Formats: sequence, C-alpha cells, structure tokens
Amino acid sequence: MKILLKNGKILSKDDLILKDILIEDEIIISIKDKIEETEEMEVIDISNNFISPGFIDMHVHLREPGNPEKETIKTGTMAAARGGYSLVCAMPNTIPTPDTIENVIALKAKIKKDAIIKVLPYAPITINQKHDAELVDMNSLKNDVCGFSNDGFGIQSTKQMYEAMNNAYRYETLIAAHCEDEGILYDGYVHKGIKALENGWHGITSLSESIQISRDTLIAEETNAKYHVCHISTKEGVRIVRDAKKRGVNVSCEVTPHHLLLTEFDVQDSNFKMNPPVRGIDDKYSLISGLLDGTIDCIVTDHAPHTLEEKNKGLKTAPFGIVGLETAFPLIYTNLVKTNIAKLSDAIKWFSLNPAKRLNLGYGNLIEGRVADITIIDLHTKKAIDKEKFFSKGRNTPFNKWICEGWPIMTIVNGRIVYKDRDYFE
Ligand code: DOR
Repeated sequence: MKILLKNGKILSKDDLILKDILIEDEIIISIKDKIEETEEMEVIDISNNFISPGFIDMHVHLREPGNPEKETIKTGTMAAARGGYSLVCAMPNTIPTPDTIENVIALKAKIKKDAIIKVLPYAPITINQKHDAELVDMNSLKNDVCGFSNDGFGIQSTKQMYEAMNNAYRYETLIAAHCEDEGILYDGYVHKGIKALENGWHGITSLSESIQISRDTLIAEETNAKYHVCHISTKEGVRIVRDAKKRGVNVSCEVTPHHLLLTEFDVQDSNFKMNPPVRGIDDKYSLISGLLDGTIDCIVTDHAPHTLEEKNKGLKTAPFGIVGLETAFPLIYTNLVKTNIAKLSDAIKWFSLNPAKRLNLGYGNLIEGRVADITIIDLHTKKAIDKEKFFSKGRNTPFNKWICEGWPIMTIVNGRIVYKDRDYFE
C-alpha cells in the first residue's frame, strides 16, 4: 500500500518548503520536491497545508477501565487523532490501576482492540496508587509501560519517592510525578491568590507543588533517576527545574496549554477547575519563559474528561480536570506562534520531538526510513472551538468559542489515515 502526500509544506529549519512525501506500508520512503505518481499509489493533495511529525502527548486520562461514562479508549483516542496526536501516554488513575502484570496485560489488550492511535500506559508508583501501600514491582512492569506515575496524587513520603527513584534508576525507567503536598491543601480548589481572596474561595498554595519539585529534584540528583515533572504550574517550580538542569540532574518537565494561557483571574466556573490550578500572571509568564529557554521540554494536555453532571456540581465540589486533546495545538499556535512569542518549529519540538526523545522513541521527525506518524495542519483558517463537536465524551473546556488557527486536518499513524477532516478531504 502506497500513499503519496502531494504539495505539502514541511519545516526546513524555520522555513516552510513544498514537498511530496511517499509512504509505503508503515514507512516514509521518500521526501522530495516532486514525486511522480504511479497507479498503485493513493494520491492525496495536501494543498499547501503544513505536514508535521505526529504529536505525542505524555499525559492524558483515557478513563478506561473504570469510568467509561467519562471517556473510553476508543473515544479518547478518536479525540487525540482529531487533535493531531499519533501517540498518547495514558495515566494510571483507572479502576483497576495497572499495578500488576495481569492488569497491564488486560489494559494493553483493550488498547490493541479499541485504540485508533498508539497508546502507551503508565503504571502507578504504588499499589493501587495508595499512599500507605508498597511500591509496585517495577522490574516486572517496566517493559510494558512508558514509565511510572501516581498522577492525580503526589507521593507524600520522601522514603517512598527515594526508594521509587532508586528502583527507576536500577530498572532504567521513568518516574513522572504529580507534585502536590497534601498537608498544605486546606481543602483548596483554585490557586491561592488575589482572586481566591476576593471571592472567599479556598486556595491551593504554590508551595504545595514547588516543595515536592524541590524534594524530588534533590532525590533525582542523588539517585540519578530519570525524573519528569508533570503539569508544572508555578514560577518557583520552573526556577527549581532550571537550576536542577544546570546541575546536570536527569529531569524533564511538561506544561499544559491552560497553565500557559490562563490565570487565576480567568476562573469563572468548574470548567476552569483543574489540579494543579491555573495560577498568577507571573507564574504564567515564567512558564512561557521556561518553555522558551528549554527548562520545560514539552506541552501536554492533561486531558481529563468528566461528565456534565459531575462538572455541574459547582466550583467547590466538581472534580478537578478539563479536556484538551482537541484544542491544544490550535491554542498554542494561535496564542504563542501567531503572536511571535515562539516559532512554529518550537511548537513542533514541544508537541513531538521532545516528548519522543524523553520516551526514547524514534518518532518526532519527518525523515526517510522512519515510521509514518504524521499530522497535517491548516495554519490559516480561523475557526471557533466548538465543544459540541468534540469526539471526546468530555465537554469540560474553558476554551469554548476561542477563535483559533492551526487546525489538524489529517492524522496518519503507522502509514494509516486515522483521522481526516471531511471539510478538506472526501
Ligand atoms: O485536573 C486534574 N485531573 N488533575 C489531575 O492530576 C488528575 C486529573 C483527573 O484524573 O481528572
């Protein structure tokens, strides 16, 4: 099976240049100024749209097994494909959690059956993600997962994190940490800042995150573990990671579009409630600076679908989390690239190359001989985000009606088209 992508634009340093791309089976076999069509090829006219390596999201919640009313592996990966993702990493706060080899094998079988893109699961750090439980048996799970994370919860005990990182170093795997000291939460549900004070809302202090990033980077330094900070939200966290990287600690870091684009002052209702919360204006600018100077490696969605019923419970009671897979790239392209804060090549690095590198995957580049994981993007059409059109079951977004450019219009995984926008391709 051969697919010829004709008249697409690819990045060459920072320029967009016209190329044809020939895919055979799973592989990009040729990228040239012009490739002659033959009868055996399916020819697709890309009409000057942008061809990017497929996006990789290191942090999503697919909710299966356990909560198919919020999302399923099928709907979550359909949403991911629509957002331009060829691979996502699924967090283990599911029921059951993949903490044993039996659970991991069952999850992988379900992924094989239902997922329309690549999905790599995380296993938890502790059994059932519980604070007072044993560590999981990393050695038996490490080959079937992309890393270990208790996402949704911070690891409260230094001893537990120290032992987990010792194991992660020994077994050459990744620890991805949700950093949150629960001792200083005081039932908070938004950022502890001016807006919370004005409204009498309970705030979550930035210290709850930064104290654990500080502890964990020190543990990573001592143990040499490969350590990744999940959804960083605070300026103090950025400073700590920057210093740790300078010292040579094996640390990486992710940030979400909502922490880059929103602050405490935008919060209106439970569609703005997530953990960690969107924070102060200076935090937002520190996160952007951290991305630009390489302190932060990649952009993730923390796609966290919940039902309407749950989200309608109000700011205080509704669960934390918002969806993100179908809006992440257009939001970043419109608000960071079109505004000249970042280059298109930076965005592609954050969405594709850097996560691929951190996960030791040979993706993230358009190169002859590589697997054809490809995203095609319309960089010019302005459209409003419409949550009613989401493939995800979740409608919980704070970005509904935001006008964006940079819409993924086709996603190819292993040389197979898994998503195409019917407005562009019949
Ligand atoms: O807002 C969040 N929602 N943050 C998390 O860490 C977990 C996630 C979820 O699973 O809903």
